[in-house]
Amino acid sequence: MKILIKYLSLTFLIIFAVLSCSKLEDDIAPPIKPSGVHPEGFGKPGAVNFHSVWFEQNNWNLKYCQQCHAADYGGGTSGESCLTCHTETAGPEACNTCHGDFSNPERISPPRDLSGNIETSARGVGSHSAHVYENGLTENIDCFECHPSETGSNEKYVYAHVGNPPADIEFGKFSSPNGNSEYDYNLLTCSNVYCHGNFSFSRDSSQFTFYYSDSVITGEKFSPVWNKVDGTQAACGTCHLLPPRGHKDAGTDPDATTCSSCHPKVVDANGNIIDRSRHINGMKDVF
Ligand code: HEC
Ligand code: HEC
Ligand code: HEC
Ligand code: HEC
Ligand code: HEC
Ligand code: HEC
Repeated sequence: MKILIKYLSLTFLIIFAVLSCSKLEDDIAPPIKPSGVHPEGFGKPGAVNFHSVWFEQNNWNLKYCQQCHAADYGGGTSGESCLTCHTETAGPEACNTCHGDFSNPERISPPRDLSGNIETSARGVGSHSAHVYENGLTENIDCFECHPSETGSNEKYVYAHVGNPPADIEFGKFSSPNGNSEYDYNLLTCSNVYCHGNFSFSRDSSQFTFYYSDSVITGEKFSPVWNKVDGTQAACGTCHLLPPRGHKDAGTDPDATTCSSCHPKVVDANGNIIDRSRHINGMKDVF
């Protein structure tokens, strides 16, 4: 009896399956190629299931893909190469794949951040461009002046540094000469960085003591907000007064029109920086 019931229900199942299959085929043309491995749209930019979404949810785990698409992403057992779309030499491991500009390998830092944001109010985007690519005050700054280099930019770097945001911040020797520069992950501010005015030049070590009004010339140790990119956080006068504290006539020239008479290689008569390599370079630059 039991066996009979089993056979009967199996027959029903088969009939049902055949019916519903043929129904599907009637409704949808052309028929869907069964894949089973990935959800639909996994290889289609813009689709809800596009693989970007998977990476965001799975810790950017490229090693998982290598199991079937080969260590060099050339296809492997899956027969589908990543390199048809990821055309950089490093394939999907190129630095602009997960952050930066996907269509421009020269631009590896946000915008775009890891979640695809491009607005500067997003913490992952913030003022990267102003520091790294369009710096009007000093030479463009290296990633590792603010981020730990870990294993360096070698081939293993990609696996070593990838984790969940927020990014790791660690200041270099230049921005943190005393090792006390910090980044506040709640306020999104940095403090005590040399670049924003944590400097002190002493009269005793100067050959131009007459221009000092105090024993030291110091900056303002300003704490800029990383994702406030409206010009206020690095305005002329925020990092040091014009001229700085302890300098002859400190703070009396807010338009920076006099600096050029004694710092002619750095500033022009309108107060514009004319040589970015001499400004915020860690050195005194006078006459
Ligand atoms: C278990 C093996 C396996 C793993 C792991 C795997 N894939 Fe695949 N992938 C396949 C196979 C097989 C195909 C071809 C058949 C298909 O489309 O499902 C494929 C196809 C694809 C395609 C083309 C799909 C399309 O619709 O054009 C993309 C894109 C892709 N995989 C990306 C990835 C990414 C990214 C990862 C890692 C997150 C990954 N795969 C992990 C086996 C795998
Ligand atoms: C059909 C073309 C195509 C194929 C095939 C493809 N990708 Fe992509 N992939 C893209 C595009 C386009 C983007 C960037 C989308 C964007 O701008 O956000 C991308 C993004 C990514 C990202 C970044 C995810 C993020 O947004 O942070 C990774 C990692 C990646 N792909 C890995 C792979 C791997 C590994 C394979 C092969 C297993 C693969 N891709 C195959 C087109 C493709
Ligand atoms: C002036 C300091 C500075 C420099 C230089 C800098 N970054 Fe950042 N970076 C930051 C800060 C601050 C954050 C935001 C941390 C947070 O989430 O609070 C960040 C975040 C990031 C993130 C995470 C984005 C996200 O989605 O959360 C990436 C990726 C990143 N940076 C890459 C780079 C690369 C690549 C370079 C060099 C091309 C670079 N950064 C240069 C300060 C810097
Ligand atoms: C597979 C995606 C992926 C690729 C490829 C990738 N990154 Fe990242 N990157 C990330 C993620 C995710 C983070 C955030 C990591 C964290 O803070 O834990 C990040 C963060 C960073 C940061 C901020 C510091 C940090 O470690 O948080 C720098 C700098 C950086 N990447 C540089 C690079 C460079 C250089 C390359 C190329 C050699 C590269 N990335 C390739 C995903 C990627
Ligand atoms: C982001 C912070 C910051 C801003 C904004 C800034 N400076 Fe400076 N400036 C510094 C630092 C730090 C020094 C210390 C010397 C060095 O490293 O070049 C300095 C030094 C100088 C000097 C002395 C010459 C030299 O380079 O050593 C002059 C002149 C000067 N700044 C003018 C200006 C003017 C004019 C503006 C506005 C257009 C301005 N600075 C905006 C940080 C800043
Ligand atoms: C009359 C000449 C004179 C004028 C005008 C002048 N400076 Fe200076 N400045 C000096 C001298 C001299 C020093 C000391 C250099 C030393 O110690 O070797 C100095 C030092 C500095 C320092 C610290 C050391 C350095 O080079 O970074 C800064 C910053 C600075 N000046 C900024 C300014 C700014 C900004 C203005 C315009 C608002 C200005 N100065 C106008 C002569 C001048």
